[in-house]
Amino acid sequence: MSTNKKVAVVTGGNRGLGLEASRQLAKQGYQLILTSRDETKGNSAAIKLQNEGLDVISQPLDVTSDESSQKLAEFINKEFGKLDVLVNNAGIYIDAQVGGNSIFDAKIDTLKQTLETNVYGVMRVTQALVPLMKKQNYGRIVNVSSGMGQLHDMGGGSPAYRISKTALNAVTRIFASELQGTNILVNSVCPGWVKTDMGGANAPRTLEQGVDTIVWLATLDDSDATGGFFRDRQPIDW
Ligand SMILES: NC(=O)c1ccc[n+]([C@@H]2O[C@H](COP(=O)([O-])OP(=O)(O)OC[C@H]3O[C@@H](n4cnc5c(N)ncnc54)[C@H](OP(=O)(O)O)[C@@H]3O)[C@@H](O)[C@H]2O)c1
Repeated sequence: MSTNKKVAVVTGGNRGLGLEASRQLAKQGYQLILTSRDETKGNSAAIKLQNEGLDVISQPLDVTSDESSQKLAEFINKEFGKLDVLVNNAGIYIDAQVGGNSIFDAKIDTLKQTLETNVYGVMRVTQALVPLMKKQNYGRIVNVSSGMGQLHDMGGGSPAYRISKTALNAVTRIFASELQGTNILVNSVCPGWVKTDMGGANAPRTLEQGVDTIVWLATLDDSDATGGFFRDRQPIDW
């Protein structure tokens, strides 16, 4: 299955922003590996994009599992021998569901569960896949964060989600710093408030608007930004 195309992985690609980012990157000519923790959902999402004429395959990936992350790395190494783009999109927002929307009511377990996906998941998958970028000294890593993680105007409510996105931004900075001097660029993005299962029906942004900056960061030129936080293609405060 070798390819001359650039190879991109999107986590949580079966719906929402992940599915749209997969579509837009594939439209730009990337060989897309759409990953999903539920294999059946991943397969049907990939078939949907294939039916639009796009070069998309699906692979299972649960970002909370070391084994699953390693298996994905082995698959990519065997099939393509390299990776060009990683969009760390998979995320959960469960504060309200578990009745702890105030920090005074929040359960530590909610925080642990949220960090496991939104922070450790990104670290785990990035650790597993960066060797495939180092091999060719090229890589673009996009961490899908949120304005809710900005310290600059941190508000109340949703503590687990907010803390996870602040921590994710630190993860972005640390990876970027340790990859200085390579052509592997690592950035965080806030997609804005987007109509998805997570964002809800009242969100003002469409999926296309939501993924615009994700795709832009995934396709940066050499020597472009690294270690930054962006919304609408502009740097924003941490
Ligand atoms: N929508 C917004 O307004 C908004 C704003 C700011 C930031 N964001 C961020 O954007 C990203 C995507 O959000 P969305 O709105 O598209 O959310 P969504 O519709 O709820 O989709 C979340 C995706 O993440 C996947 N996922 C969750 N846990 C996973 C795991 N352990 N392993 C692999 N995949 C997992 C889900 O898979 P399943 O289908 O199996 O559950 C789903 O594909 C998230 O990181 C979110 O925090 C969204």
